[in-house]
Amino acid sequence: MLQKLAASLLLLVTCSSSVTAQSARSNSNPSPPACSARTLHLSDPPYQDYFYSDCHVDAQAVVTSPLPDSNLSIIGPRFIVAWPAGNSGICTFFQPQSGKNGSLAIELVNSTLGAPLGPIYNKTKDSANPVVGVEGVLSFNNSAELPIAILGSVRNIRDFTEGPSLLSPIIQAGIKVTKFQKTGAQISRLWLDNVTTTTFTLVPWKNSDNHIQIDNTTLRFGSGFYHFTASFNYPQLKQLTPSQILNEQSQSLVKQQPETISSLSFFSYTEKLLAGGWRFLTYFGRDSMLTALLLQPVLSTGNGSAIEAVIGAALERVNRTDGSVCHEETIGDYATFVNLQNNITSTAAGFTYPMIDTDYYLPVLMARYFGSSPERISPLLSTKAGSIDIGNLNLTWRDLSYATASKIMNITAAFEQNQTVDNLIALKPDQSVGQWRDSSWGLAHGRIPFDVNCALAPAALYAISSLAAMPGVYPNNSVTQKWTTVAAQRAKVWEDKTLQFFQYSMTAKTAVARLTEYTSKNTFYDGPTNGDSASDYSTNGTIIDYGLAINSTTTPEVIPITHTDTAFRHYLLNTTDDEQLTTFINASANAVLRPFPAGLSTPIGVVVANPALSNNDVLIANFPNSAYHGTVVWSWQLALMAKGFERQLERCHGSSNVTDIPSSITNATATPQFCSNKGVYTALKAAYNKLWDIIENNSEQLESEVWSWTYSGGKNGTEADFKFSPLAVLPPPPGAGSATESDVRQLWSLTFLSVTRNKGFS
Ligand SMILES: *[C@@H]1O[C@H](CO)[C@@H](O)[C@H](O)[C@H]1NC(C)=O
Ligand SMILES: *[C@@H]1O[C@H](CO)[C@@H](O)[C@H](O)[C@H]1NC(C)=O
Ligand SMILES: *[C@@H]1O[C@H](CO)[C@@H](O)[C@H](O)[C@H]1NC(C)=O
Ligand SMILES: *[C@@H]1O[C@H](CO)[C@@H](O)[C@H](O)[C@H]1NC(C)=O
Ligand SMILES: *[C@@H]1O[C@H](CO)[C@@H](O)[C@H](O)[C@H]1NC(C)=O
Ligand SMILES: *[C@@H]1O[C@H](CO)[C@@H](O)[C@H](O)[C@H]1NC(C)=O
Ligand SMILES: *[C@@H]1O[C@H](CO)[C@@H](O)[C@H](O)[C@H]1NC(C)=O
Ligand SMILES: *[C@@H]1O[C@H](CO)[C@@H](O)[C@H](O)[C@H]1NC(C)=O
Ligand SMILES: *[C@@H]1O[C@H](CO)[C@@H](O)[C@H](O)[C@H]1NC(C)=O
Ligand SMILES: *[C@@H]1O[C@H](CO)[C@@H](O)[C@H](O)[C@H]1NC(C)=O
Ligand SMILES: *[C@@H]1O[C@H](CO)[C@@H](O)[C@H](O)[C@H]1NC(C)=O
Ligand SMILES: *[C@@H]1O[C@H](CO)[C@@H](O)[C@H](O)[C@H]1NC(C)=O
Repeated sequence: MLQKLAASLLLLVTCSSSVTAQSARSNSNPSPPACSARTLHLSDPPYQDYFYSDCHVDAQAVVTSPLPDSNLSIIGPRFIVAWPAGNSGICTFFQPQSGKNGSLAIELVNSTLGAPLGPIYNKTKDSANPVVGVEGVLSFNNSAELPIAILGSVRNIRDFTEGPSLLSPIIQAGIKVTKFQKTGAQISRLWLDNVTTTTFTLVPWKNSDNHIQIDNTTLRFGSGFYHFTASFNYPQLKQLTPSQILNEQSQSLVKQQPETISSLSFFSYTEKLLAGGWRFLTYFGRDSMLTALLLQPVLSTGNGSAIEAVIGAALERVNRTDGSVCHEETIGDYATFVNLQNNITSTAAGFTYPMIDTDYYLPVLMARYFGSSPERISPLLSTKAGSIDIGNLNLTWRDLSYATASKIMNITAAFEQNQTVDNLIALKPDQSVGQWRDSSWGLAHGRIPFDVNCALAPAALYAISSLAAMPGVYPNNSVTQKWTTVAAQRAKVWEDKTLQFFQYSMTAKTAVARLTEYTSKNTFYDGPTNGDSASDYSTNGTIIDYGLAINSTTTPEVIPITHTDTAFRHYLLNTTDDEQLTTFINASANAVLRPFPAGLSTPIGVVVANPALSNNDVLIANFPNSAYHGTVVWSWQLALMAKGFERQLERCHGSSNVTDIPSSITNATATPQFCSNKGVYTALKAAYNKLWDIIENNSEQLESEVWSWTYSGGKNGTEADFKFSPLAVLPPPPGAGSATESDVRQLWSLTFLSVTRNKGFS
């Protein structure tokens, strides 16, 4: 992504990106067969990101170098290389040897070793796995020192960069620093598995006066060029090529959108898709399944396809005991580390299940896929589990998919009988998070989230109903035979009876008073309240809204934060209670039509949460523009909302009869009443187009994970006073050590490949 900057800056602000294919050099002897490389450079100041993939290795390098306007307590010179294999990496921190912070800039430059990255590939007798990695030349404008290096797992690196700078003694104790090639230095670490070694070397390059001094574990060296290598000997994943990821009709995207496809390829492997780089180069259940849903129109199908990699990865990692779908896997060095914390000596991968939403995506995705590829049911579900999660040995993926469906049927049963808050789905008792807003204030400490209850659970029940009717999905027994009807009837109850628990309202007049208060207290926004829009975009003078969550069963207050999770319901369900649907469509369209702070729209994006109408100082303080799930913009939420609005608009035109739901039960094919309510239909269409205008105006950011904005206009300011800002450079939210660094590319932010503007609705 390309952030436009004032022109005066350092040479490393290239404002350009490039995708190149180059032929890989190799250090091995004899040479392996030709192995062409795919590279991508993304400029995201103060970060420069470089991706490198060939037949031996996949790597992302990130160079951070402070800009003249950088906050130097947050941004310092740093060099990371991250590898999907084992979710591994190296992270090195630099500082000026003399002179003040900010006086050291680093840069990765093209050289005969790479442009700028070249491959390391060394097949040696010493190691079962070849030593692979990347090399290149780093340039330092000043004398520098390297006091801290973390080698091993990206999870250990994140514990340091995202936590309160936590270094793990057992990991750091393994660091060995030695002289290398006379003038250089080598930093290496044997993993806790006693087999894998990560190595980083730095040697003066065309810079013969210099040599690196080693002072205990700190390196000191003069300005100039240095040849670096970063390598390890660990089994590699098998990447899917662009043409393997896309279905036949979508192959042209490889040429039309080469950068996006290159990023998608970097995240796509035979065994799983990865959530994002550099921080999440590993399996995340929610991210990959949501992506597969939105990208389904362009993804390949069948054996070895992208969509089966996603479904298979989720099934393989299901908890066989309770059917939970895995949120995140713990692999590589971090797996051995976590086992050791539990007094177990083992390198076995671990699987975590803290989330409550992830389960529901699985049947929805399976129903959509098997609905169009029924011939894949038997081969995919007969796959024997246990190749990744050894705890699932002796089971098939069919058994695991049944366990998840059984869990969902069990957890949703009580609400069908009695529609009380107690019977809604809440976060797990020992967890403080449980759906995609998984930061400490993401749900404002609410326990009963909107998305799971009002969208994901009913959608999953409809999907289980469809799957139960497909031969070969679930084991054929007296329980599953009834699911076709039982699950659909239950889905209807969840669809119709949950929304009311989350609804709250206020008069437009109250809203205006709250906006004045919010704006006067706000530390990052002192612009207009946009109070006029509170009455312009209301329901006859009343603002109707749906809370982010319900606080708890004992204190069942709605948490009055306006949010984008309404999009889940638009995208996943064609609800048929007309009175409820008309109100819901009108309210969620109005929330987008109202400009911030009255609603969700800013010129920089639709924010995922807004506490401005809450009349609650604690909420207002904890949902700022620097909080990970605060008044910030997430690309995939824009995509989900665009698709959700589009699906509802389509219902008014009968332009699609695709449906997962047995229409005998839902009557979902009838045209809903909101279509003939002129005010509501117009609001929906206007919201759809406003959203797309905003998406198009921010196209440079769309493939990144999350971003934010600053405002500098004062009371009489205009839209032009909103400016894009990376999240990580803003002062941290209350209680946080630092704001979160966004991934330059995130899997689910690539979904605009198939989520496109429907001009028919303009
Ligand atoms: C390859 O590895 C061997 C054994 O560790 C080492 O001696 C050799 O220098 C390496 N070759 C290159 C080109 O790095
Ligand atoms: C480095 O090499 C790449 C690939 O050839 C090229 O696209 C890029 O422009 C070069 N960068 C500079 C600063 O010359
Ligand atoms: C690695 O070696 C150490 C020292 O011999 C031993 O204590 C440890 O259990 C070994 N770790 C593994 C995972 O085998
Ligand atoms: C070398 O560094 C280690 C780790 O930072 C430290 O524990 C040790 O005391 C240092 N040794 C000397 C001689 O400074
Ligand atoms: C799987 O679920 C069971 C039952 O809830 C639980 O006891 C177990 O800890 C879970 N496994 C993992 C790896 O979390
Ligand atoms: C691991 O063993 C140590 C020492 O015996 C003990 O203090 C600790 O509680 C154990 N940890 C776990 C998770 O069992
Ligand atoms: C799988 O089956 C084998 C042989 O029946 C048994 O030894 C093993 O414990 C089983 N593994 C699991 C995880 O159930
Ligand atoms: C669901 O409930 C049934 C009946 O109590 C039980 O047999 C089954 O194990 C439960 N399923 C899961 C995945 O917990
Ligand atoms: C539903 O739950 C409420 C609250 O727990 C209880 O008072 C009521 O009797 C229940 N109704 C039925 C039909 O079970
Ligand atoms: C506003 O009130 C009028 C008259 O009662 C009604 O026809 C209209 O549907 C209401 N608007 C909305 C959006 O509910
Ligand atoms: C929210 O619920 C928690 C318990 O989960 C409770 O401590 C807190 O007081 C409740 N907050 C409000 C505003 O009711
Ligand atoms: C809802 O209806 C739209 C338009 O008819 C259709 O594209 C979509 O697939 C339907 N969604 C579901 C979940 O059935």
